[in-house]
Amino acid sequence: MADPYYITTAIHYPNGKPHIGHAYETIAADVIARFQRASGREVRFQTGTDEHGLKMAQKARELQVTPRDLCDEMSTHFRDLFGRLDISYDNFIRTTDSSHHRASQALWQAMETNGDLYLDRYEGWYSIRDEAYYDESELSEGEGGVKLSPQGTPVEWTVEESWFFRLSKYAEPLLALYRDNPGFIQPDSRRNEVMRFVEGGLRDLSVSRTSFDWGVKVPGADEHVMYVWVDALTNYLTGLGYPDETPDLDKFWPADLHLIGKDIVRFHAVYWPAFLMSAGLPVPKQVFGHGFLLNRGKKESKSLGNVTDPVMLIEQFGVDPLRYFLMREIAFGQDGSYSPEAIVTRSNAELANSFGNLAQRTLSMIFKNLDGAIDAGIQENDADAALLANVREGIAGLRTAFEKLSFSEGLEAWIKAVFACNAYVDEMAPWALRKTDPDRMAVVLNILFRCVRDLAIAVRPVVPGSIDRLLDQMGVPDSERDFSALDDQTWFERLAESGFKVDKPEGVFPRVELPQTEDAV
Ligand code: MF3
Repeated sequence: MADPYYITTAIHYPNGKPHIGHAYETIAADVIARFQRASGREVRFQTGTDEHGLKMAQKARELQVTPRDLCDEMSTHFRDLFGRLDISYDNFIRTTDSSHHRASQALWQAMETNGDLYLDRYEGWYSIRDEAYYDESELSEGEGGVKLSPQGTPVEWTVEESWFFRLSKYAEPLLALYRDNPGFIQPDSRRNEVMRFVEGGLRDLSVSRTSFDWGVKVPGADEHVMYVWVDALTNYLTGLGYPDETPDLDKFWPADLHLIGKDIVRFHAVYWPAFLMSAGLPVPKQVFGHGFLLNRGKKESKSLGNVTDPVMLIEQFGVDPLRYFLMREIAFGQDGSYSPEAIVTRSNAELANSFGNLAQRTLSMIFKNLDGAIDAGIQENDADAALLANVREGIAGLRTAFEKLSFSEGLEAWIKAVFACNAYVDEMAPWALRKTDPDRMAVVLNILFRCVRDLAIAVRPVVPGSIDRLLDQMGVPDSERDFSALDDQTWFERLAESGFKVDKPEGVFPRVELPQTEDAV
């Protein structure tokens, strides 16, 4: 039986259209999901929208629509974007679904049964933009004396009757969790931040609101809705059928990975495991806080007027150049910067000119000079064996790095193997061998065909659509596109015997160009 693997992204507030940061996180999660599937795991991949809370209620009021209509409309934009990005999610969750209300109430009741919820009065600072409570000591002063959260968002003094969760009780168990499982919070820099925060002691957490009603009702206290993060975090369980003891819950919980932005690590690494411990449920295996994506080094914001619509980037450059760029360019976990120029440069250098060109040259020479036929009976020499070994090593490097979520490092190992193949083509000059030694030319082209197939399979989690179009042209069956196919030595023979012939190939990694801007005219 395949080992199950459950990965989630954060769920996103649909208070506006998705931006590039949403695309970045979801692409990374998709690459991991596809990589794990290719490695033989049974993957469950969940994403979705986080639809309750004051921020959503206020946005709806501002637009003069109902919160429900706002969610319905905006949630569609997220789904559409993920479709265009080739995101292979298994479940798209919306927290307004009735199954989610039921799950959130069940989790609440489990915490209450454990004696961890009590009624009191909340007085303190709240940021609507972050949907977060902050301690006075965490605030700074902005222009005109406004108080700002550590994220730079304005906070308001809030006084309400509220349910509280006994978070203080979990400081020690949480610290033990971090100590016993150094991989629980990654990267290490985030782990250190969280540990320092918890070591400073935890205050009980206000977990309900009475000043508005756009949320999940607190069981037995109808005038309260749950604090949006309590219901939001529960989404990871809802998607598996909780509170019912479903086969999915049994198979996929605890989650292997919650992939989230670095700004919401505290919610996932402190509140969430505490809620789960309280409810008697196992905690996730890992919370990974990735960095921010900057536009030419700057955070995108409406006031700077530099907000980029990810759909436009897909239309300009294509989905796979964008996916490749984001995974290759940025050290995953750290902040990274993008620009149209950088996307074009990276994608043209590596996808179009290196790998695309290698595949295109190989297939087109087989088509023209060998009548498209594959030959399994070739005798390889030392140079051929060295190239095959080089490719194997590059792929092993990619796999080791991807296991650690070091995508950039993995793709670097992969592209080095691609470079080695191109150097081999130049050195062997099969076009010259055509006249002088056609048998040797056939060997060279068949070796290259094998290398292209293996390199294609390795990079498929990153650029799946393009690779499938390439493998279609190479006669590689759908069922032989996973990593297990790399260990199968018989594929080449089977393909040759099947009588498969390479047709006139079509390039799958075209060069991309910068859009013409007004200044350029
Ligand atoms: N909507 C939250 C945000 O954008 C993230 C919620 S992730 C959750 O900051 F899983 F906790 F729901």
